[in-house]
Amino acid sequence: MVSLRSSSIMGKTTIYAFISFFFFLFAFITSSEGQSVPAMYVFGDSLVDVGNNNYIKDSILKADYPYNGIDYPGGIPTGRFSNGKNAADFLAEKVGLPTSPPYLSNTSDVFLQGVSFASGGSGLFNSTGQGFLMKTLSLAKQVDYYAAVHERLVKQLGPDGAKLHLSKSLFLVVIGGNDALAYFELGIDKIFKKVSPDEYVGQMVNILQGLLKQIYNLGGRKFVVAGLTSIGCCPGQRIDSITEECKQDINALAINYNQQLTSMLAGLKLDFDDFNYSYFNSYTVLSDIIQNAATYGTILDLNHIELKNDVTNFELKTKKVHDHAIRSIEIIKRTGSIDVVMDSNLSRISHSASKRKKQLVVDSED
Ligand SMILES: *[C@@H]1O[C@H](CO)[C@@H](O)[C@H](O)[C@H]1NC(C)=O
Ligand SMILES: *[C@@H]1O[C@H](CO)[C@@H](O)[C@H](O)[C@H]1NC(C)=O
Ligand SMILES: *[C@@H]1O[C@H](CO)[C@@H](O)[C@H](O)[C@H]1NC(C)=O
Ligand SMILES: *[C@@H]1O[C@H](CO)[C@@H](O)[C@H](O)[C@H]1NC(C)=O
Repeated sequence: MVSLRSSSIMGKTTIYAFISFFFFLFAFITSSEGQSVPAMYVFGDSLVDVGNNNYIKDSILKADYPYNGIDYPGGIPTGRFSNGKNAADFLAEKVGLPTSPPYLSNTSDVFLQGVSFASGGSGLFNSTGQGFLMKTLSLAKQVDYYAAVHERLVKQLGPDGAKLHLSKSLFLVVIGGNDALAYFELGIDKIFKKVSPDEYVGQMVNILQGLLKQIYNLGGRKFVVAGLTSIGCCPGQRIDSITEECKQDINALAINYNQQLTSMLAGLKLDFDDFNYSYFNSYTVLSDIIQNAATYGTILDLNHIELKNDVTNFELKTKKVHDHAIRSIEIIKRTGSIDVVMDSNLSRISHSASKRKKQLVVDSED
C-alpha cells in the first residue's frame, strides 16, 4: 500500500492528465500548406504522451488501464491519458505524418519521422512528477534524449542533411501544468511555497527558455508551444470545493505563466531570427469551450472516460479500479482549419462527480 500523501499527489497528477483538454488549433500549421514537414518532435506531459510512461519501471504514472484508449483504434489502452487520440496524434495527422512513436519504445532508433519524449505527470522542474512509485521524464531529461537522437540523425543524414531536415520539422512543446499544480499541492515540496507565485512562474519560464535554446542549438527551428489552460477549472480541482468553483489562485498562476511565456518566446525570436514559433493560447480556447460548450458540437459519448480521483495507488497498480467519480465527454468541432477536441463538459462533470461518488466506489469493487 501507499501512503495517503502519495495517493493524493497521484490524484492530482492523474486528474490533470485526464482532464487533459485534448484540443489543438491548427491554423498555424495549415497555413504553411505545400511545405512538407518531415518529422515531428514532441516534448511534454500527459497531454501529449503517446506511451513513454508504459516503459518506465516502478512507476504507477501510467495510462495502461481501461477506459483509456476506448475510442482509440483498437479500443485498448495505449499509454495515452485519453479515451482516444490526443493532441500529438491530431497534429501529426494534420501535417501528414504518423504519430511520433514513444522514444522509450526503441532507444536506439533514429526516428526519421520524429519521436515523442512526452511523459505523463512530468514538468519543467526535475522534481515534478517524481516520488515514491512515480517516475517521469522531466523536460530536461526529454531534451537529453533529443540530443542523443540528434547525434544519430547527424550520423545518418550528415551534418547538412540533419540541419535541413530539422529546420523543416515541428517541435511541439506542451508542459507546465503539473508544475503549476505542484505549487498548490499541500504537503509536498514545501520549498516551492517559499517563493511567490510570480517567482515560481519566473523559474518555470527560465527553465523552459534554457531548454528551448538547447533544442534550437540542436537544430530546432519551428516550435509550437502551448500555454497553460485554466487548470483551476479541472473537475479534479473543482470538486475540492463545496461550491465546485474554479480555483482562482491556480488560474491566476496559469495566466501569469502564459504572460511570461509569451514574452520569453518573443525574446527568443529577437535573439535568434530563425527561431520560429507558434504560441497556442490554451487558456482562451478552454475558457471559451467551458463557457460555450454547446457551440462546440456533438457530444460523442458520456460514459467513456473515468477520472481516478480518490483511488489508492495500490488499486491503480493492480488496475482494478474503475472509479467513475467523474465522467467526461468528448466534444469535437471540426470546421475547416480548426479542430477542437476535448473530453470534458466541465460543468456537468463537476456536478455529477460528488453525487456519484459513493455509488461509483461500490461499482469499482466488481
Ligand atoms: C530499433 O531501432 C533500430 C535502429 O533503427 C532497429 O535496427 C531495430 O530493429 C529497432 N528495434 C525494434 C524492436 O523495433
Ligand atoms: C535537471 O536534470 C538535468 C538532467 O536531465 C540536469 O542536467 C539539470 O542540471 C537538472 N536541473 C537542476 C536544476 O537540477
Ligand atoms: C521563420 O520566419 C521567417 C519570418 O519571420 C520566415 O522568413 C522564415 O522562412 C521562417 N523559417 C522557417 C524555417 O520557417
Ligand atoms: C454541459 O453540462 C451542463 C450542466 O449539466 C449543461 O447545462 C450543458 O448543456 C452541457 N453542455 C453540453 C454541450 O452538453
